[in-house]
Amino acid sequence: MSTEMKKSDPDWWRGAVIYQVYIRSFCDSDGDGIGDLQGITGKLEHIASLGVDALWITPFFPSPMKDFGYDVSDYCNVDPIFGTLEDFDKLVARSHKLGLRVIIDQVISHSSDQHPWFTESRRSRDNPKADWYVWAEPGPHGGVPNNWLSVFGGSAWQWHEARQQYYLHNFLAEQPDLNFHNKAVRAAMLETMDFWLQRGVDGFRLDTVNFYFHDQVLRDNPPAKAEARNNLGTDVNPYHDQEHLFDKNQKENIAFLEELRSLMDRYPGTTTMGEVGDASMGGAIIADYTTGHKRLHMCYDCEFLGGHLRAEYFSGQVQDFELKGKGGWQCWAFSNHDVRRHLSCWSSPEMTQQERAKLAKLLVGLLLSFRGSACLYQGEELGLTEAELQFEQLKDPYGIQFWPEFKGRDGCRTPMPWNDEGKGAGFTTGEPWLPIPPEHLSLAANRQTKDPNSIYSQYKRFIHWYRSHPVLAKGSILIIDSRHPVLAFEREYKNEKILAIFNLRASQAAYDLYANHAVQALTGHGYNSRLEGNRVHLPGYGAFFGLIS
Ligand code: BGC
Repeated sequence: MSTEMKKSDPDWWRGAVIYQVYIRSFCDSDGDGIGDLQGITGKLEHIASLGVDALWITPFFPSPMKDFGYDVSDYCNVDPIFGTLEDFDKLVARSHKLGLRVIIDQVISHSSDQHPWFTESRRSRDNPKADWYVWAEPGPHGGVPNNWLSVFGGSAWQWHEARQQYYLHNFLAEQPDLNFHNKAVRAAMLETMDFWLQRGVDGFRLDTVNFYFHDQVLRDNPPAKAEARNNLGTDVNPYHDQEHLFDKNQKENIAFLEELRSLMDRYPGTTTMGEVGDASMGGAIIADYTTGHKRLHMCYDCEFLGGHLRAEYFSGQVQDFELKGKGGWQCWAFSNHDVRRHLSCWSSPEMTQQERAKLAKLLVGLLLSFRGSACLYQGEELGLTEAELQFEQLKDPYGIQFWPEFKGRDGCRTPMPWNDEGKGAGFTTGEPWLPIPPEHLSLAANRQTKDPNSIYSQYKRFIHWYRSHPVLAKGSILIIDSRHPVLAFEREYKNEKILAIFNLRASQAAYDLYANHAVQALTGHGYNSRLEGNRVHLPGYGAFFGLIS
């Protein structure tokens, strides 16, 4: 790591902008149609040019790829599809030279069923790893042990002939759940994380961090309260009809997160970012997991993802978290590799391309103006929309299970269009593993990077401007107006107080400042709005930033 980075703020992650790389679809260096580590290294300048602090790389460990890397069969190596450990070291070294920190994805709640721990565990009831996974006897009527469901459909229990028992899987049957009540499992997982810390990573994104522990008495989950259905899936998924009181969100997790934090603290300047998937409890869990200095640094939940482009919606989310999680730290995101691209959720097919581009530009300013850190998902800086795929083109088992009501996650995972030519669009010289939609070619990186009016340039401009106003990264937040289409809030840090106003609709809007607000308009952020007397005139999808004195 560059000495400059080492010396810098150990709290860098507060207000950090993190760029998520979905490795399979970022850049393919060897022509097999699948992105890889060398491909990422070759494109680090693109990421660094945006001015972000870090990149988060999705899993690249050996895996049978049933869930595209979220089924790990060896925690301390690289899958040959993605390269070698040496390629990884080079990626880290180059990133650090460019001032980028590297966060990797740890999928420790479950492993692949091909992991040697599981192949040993399933052999018998008395082998040394017999208790490393969650095994259970049939229920009272001879069927599954209880009513727990898999996120990907069906029961969360899979029968195993050799052991004459069921094992738990919150996702695919090929992703058996590790038993975190077993101390040896916890120790083994921390050891694998230490392996990567020693190799120089700057942090971890912790997959499904609230799933680590389960209720040992295996109590049934009650039905979900109507208002608490999760945004992650869809109404077709019965998983969201239950309140997940017993298959996740267990209190024992806190002690483990504290153990994990002690490991992290041995490597100053590193960070953790937990993924909490639970709409009903998200804010409270994030507060619980991130308050103080002994647990995780930050978490994100999926509430904002797939939410509504309404002023009241955003103010509700922010206020809810401020209420429950005052001392906690949120990492906001509009898109990731699990949900429909936000630009498609929030724009209509009737919209002109120009209007859609304006909306895309507004959203980076909005995302970075909330109190917390932010994750950008590859391609959002180009304004990519969701790809509409045919059933035959699907790869995601989640989509295959629930088609056509829910089309899965392939539509947000199509490869990056680096240039506007050919089938591979600069992503690959071979056959891309998922098709690149033709409409993405006109948004390709080569068309946008030199155009000062492009979506990419607004992302870059705003992120650089954001850096010069630490109040946006670290300040408190107070919502002052959320009558759609206008969302207005104040951010305050040390001696600086900023007013941020957003117009979330395509036509113009006006906002009258409070009489006691002496506001001076700020420039350089790339948004056009006019302050006349006490009135701010905002064009469609416009924003205003002013200094309050
Ligand atoms: C990841 C998904 C994955 C699941 C199971 C998540 O939340 O982001 O992509 O399928 O965990 O590991």
